[in-house]
Amino acid sequence: MSHGTPQSAAFGGGGSGRGSTYSRLVAMSVDPAQLDRDHLWHPFTQQLGWVEEEPLMIERAEGSQLIDDAGRRYLDGVSSLWCNVHGHRHPGIDAAVREQLGRVAHSTMLGLSHAGGAELAARLVELAPPGLSRVFYSESGSTATEIALKMAFQYQQQRGGQHARRTSFVHLRDAYHGDTLGSVSVGGIDTFHAAYRPLLFDTHAAEPGDAADLERVLAAHEEEVAAVILEPQVQGAAGMLTHPRGYLRAVRELCDSFGVLLICDEVATGFGRTGTMFACEQEDVAPDLLCLGKGLTGGYLPLAATLATERVYERFLGAPEERRTFFHGHTYTGNPLACAAARASLDAFERERTIERLQPKIQLLSELLAGVEAMPEVAEVRGRGMMVGIDLGEHDPALRLGHRVTLEARQRGAIIRPLGDVVVLMPPLAISEAELRRLVAITADSIRAAVASLEDSVPLAQAA
Ligand SMILES: Cc1ncc(COP(=O)(O)O)c(C=O)c1O
Repeated sequence: MSHGTPQSAAFGGGGSGRGSTYSRLVAMSVDPAQLDRDHLWHPFTQQLGWVEEEPLMIERAEGSQLIDDAGRRYLDGVSSLWCNVHGHRHPGIDAAVREQLGRVAHSTMLGLSHAGGAELAARLVELAPPGLSRVFYSESGSTATEIALKMAFQYQQQRGGQHARRTSFVHLRDAYHGDTLGSVSVGGIDTFHAAYRPLLFDTHAAEPGDAADLERVLAAHEEEVAAVILEPQVQGAAGMLTHPRGYLRAVRELCDSFGVLLICDEVATGFGRTGTMFACEQEDVAPDLLCLGKGLTGGYLPLAATLATERVYERFLGAPEERRTFFHGHTYTGNPLACAAARASLDAFERERTIERLQPKIQLLSELLAGVEAMPEVAEVRGRGMMVGIDLGEHDPALRLGHRVTLEARQRGAIIRPLGDVVVLMPPLAISEAELRRLVAITADSIRAAVASLEDSVPLAQAA
């Protein structure tokens, strides 16, 4: 191979004399798993362990099920990383994407526009908490929060006077807002973030769910804070940490009294996950900036949005030479295919009364989880709506208990992904009651089997 990467066993020694495209196609059908091990670098993954395991190759999907290359079916217990909403291969979303493909797959939003993007923006404004009137598109949850931070910073700069000193942010401990450097700066999960500390800007951390602590932090840094950023109701990546009722409202009031903006990151909680369209609704809170991603396209295509109030937006207006422009935007900002998927997803919410039909499933899930919480292997079950964390308590991280649970679940026909030793369940909102029962039963069995398997490992680990 000309590019110096290790020769893949899947290429069968090569030397056929045919073009590389042919070789690659042959290789793909022969052993894609080997191609993966030889060439892929997976997100949030220690590759040393990855290459020792057989990768599960997903070939297709239907509804709440993923299907591998051997035709085995698995319940999609984490909605393909918390984003699938109406199930896979939803006829309405499939048709909308196909229809858009027949027009144009991509054209830029820099200097041009398209009706689909404009219509989606209007519909998001209609759905979002009151006052959010402007929609800025991007492609991931990380960029949605990055944009909100830049907007908040620039807003304060452009207010001028003493506000220009408002250059820092308050976030919650254990927060997760993405993996770009701005969003990592307001993050608080050491496993993910500690390595990058020297690259990050200074922030102030407040205790999750504790309004008095936030007040203390804001009072201590009164004149330098541009905005408070938080995940409303549930801090997902922290292990489905929930805030007490009333906390979000108290945060809104504190932001108002200290004159700082409130950024709500609903990348994970948005689009019905906590039982309402947006988690903010549960406390009648409207933020100044709202970050959306993941479920925006029903889990089909990368699209994110940062919504802003008119008050924020107006600070960016002025003659070009005033340099008030928001200098931000990506090649694929507002991609028409992704916007088509998002509009079709919103249609499905309406037509299928997704939020209304979710309520009995949430009730059933909480009943099923009561049984899981009673298991001796389980320390605590947390969550809201369809966002669940099953905490297995303190274990030696080297034993990778959470990971063991996912391997056990895979054998039993479900895909779940842990956060350390917290087993996450976040199925598509469209999951059936029967599938939900099966998912929880598989999870409970897998937890029992994984904890039992530790008994063999403990003496080994102690001997090491
Ligand atoms: C609350 C929250 N914000 C932001 C992100 C980052 O989103 P993405 O992975 O699409 O960049 C995530 C991802 O899990 C999240 O949970």
